[in-house]
Amino acid sequence: MSSIKQHLSNVVAAAINQATGLEDSNANVITASKPEFGDYQANGVMAIAKQQKANPRELAGRVIEHIDCEGDALIDKIEIAGPGFINIHLSPSALLDAANAAISDPELLVAKTMSPEKIVVDYSSPNLAKEMHVGHLRGTIIGDSLVRILERLGHQVVRQNHVGDWGTQFGMLIAYMQELSADESALNAGLSDLEDFYRAAKDRFDSDPAFADTARKCVVKLQSGDPEFLAAWERFIDESLKHCEALYDKLGVSLSRDDLDAESRYNDDLPRVIAELEAKNLLTESEGARCVFLDEFKGKEGDPLPLIVEKSDGGFLYSTTDLAAVRLRVKDKVDRSLYVVDARQSLHFQQVFAVARAAGFADNGISLEHIAYGTMMGKDGRPFKTRSGDIVKLIDLLDEGVRRAHAIVSEKNPALSEEERQLVAQRVGIAAVKYADLSKNRTSDYVFDWSTMLSFEGNTAPYLLYAYARIRSILRKAPDNATINHIVQIGAEEERALMLKTLQLPEVLEAVARDCYPNQLCNYLYELSGLFMRFYEACPILKADEETMNSRLALCNLTAETLHTGLGLLGIETLEQM
Ligand code: ARG
Repeated sequence: MSSIKQHLSNVVAAAINQATGLEDSNANVITASKPEFGDYQANGVMAIAKQQKANPRELAGRVIEHIDCEGDALIDKIEIAGPGFINIHLSPSALLDAANAAISDPELLVAKTMSPEKIVVDYSSPNLAKEMHVGHLRGTIIGDSLVRILERLGHQVVRQNHVGDWGTQFGMLIAYMQELSADESALNAGLSDLEDFYRAAKDRFDSDPAFADTARKCVVKLQSGDPEFLAAWERFIDESLKHCEALYDKLGVSLSRDDLDAESRYNDDLPRVIAELEAKNLLTESEGARCVFLDEFKGKEGDPLPLIVEKSDGGFLYSTTDLAAVRLRVKDKVDRSLYVVDARQSLHFQQVFAVARAAGFADNGISLEHIAYGTMMGKDGRPFKTRSGDIVKLIDLLDEGVRRAHAIVSEKNPALSEEERQLVAQRVGIAAVKYADLSKNRTSDYVFDWSTMLSFEGNTAPYLLYAYARIRSILRKAPDNATINHIVQIGAEEERALMLKTLQLPEVLEAVARDCYPNQLCNYLYELSGLFMRFYEACPILKADEETMNSRLALCNLTAETLHTGLGLLGIETLEQM
């Protein structure tokens, strides 16, 4: 079954087609903005009337003549409101049937897409010269959630961790490894903290010209494929990846070594990229560097803005690698390539995409999308740092979340054993950090604030996890002979509203898969929990007569499953008790 919204969009679009002859018109169906407007409203008629120079209300009247309410099980009645809105009320019995079908369907009626696509999701992608820091959090978890949702909808998802593992910094790191290599244990100790290791190497590089010279020679050796230097580089990369993996593990992110799409992979391809750009007459030399100038990119003064693809010393750049990667993705018949990367790289991606199109590396068969995200800020309104102004390591941030959650759970629920508290703290601490991020519109910057994200009130992970645990506890308290798999009544308005909400999961996922805003799923789960709380206050469950109790327990069950699935798609694990 397609989602309710999709079904209604199809029905209204078909009616518009019959009334006007227009094909593929946008019925613009949304969930009703107020209860008195029904369950859904179609707002598309106004725009079409304008286009056709028709009276919108009159057009809406002609459109609804073509909607067969009798024949459509889902639609109860339709009304025209205001200047030409079409308000749609759904049939209670059809809603009941759908809810019961959802209860017995492990997929909760989330259908696999009819048009599966091959989708590359390029996410996390840290620079391996250093440790992962807070700046990598957003890309990692937004990407993880998108991957889960796209897969759930039946797309073929290719995870790609486009790690930065190549370039001049590695010459410096190898040179420093060689300095320490006389003492294996000192080298091991050094590599155990890559942040310190990088800093120490950089200090050497900046203060000692002889070392800097060695470092430069190391790059050349490495790039010419010298086995000794390659081995040192591999050792460093392996260490660095282990750090990333420890983090992915803590975060519950599924990236593994199989998903690597490292920059180094494209090394041999780069001269070919340049040659093809050259053959297409796209290259211009500017101050010794080779650049592509496209008319659409201008600087502040209207001066032409280049995409530099080869430096004057013959070195290639980040952009060259990205062009090579686009080329490969097109060869691999990818339909969509999503780049979950910091918004500060927007210009880079616009240029890479445009050059890839101009050079014919990418054709219309591939959609290239920068899934940009804003910066995580401190309370001072600047990018999040430690008090002393240092970059915060991601691992430290997560550990602090768990510590804080432990203190809170110990205070709120002292009856739990230490072991249970640890589990709760682990889940809640990580969930709080992830959810605080995922629930914000990804394109905006946001302020990282422990007390808000760990609060049990508002749109937070603790609130949602608590709502879930509470429902589970109601279900545990049900008498042994209770049945929890059949809803028979939706007498109360609160029951109906909750049930309809549970049925909207498929359309929310469709929207996230299309637009890549996981905060839409967060908002949905928050609203769902709110509707549950309203239902719980208004409708007795365990104290009701048997039939009502069973029916309401079944609604609780459906709500719990929906929350569990939705949170799971955000990469958040639920708890049976908190
Ligand atoms: N390693 C880059 C960085 O740390 C991000 C790579 C994103 N992916 C890409 N295909 N450019 O900024």
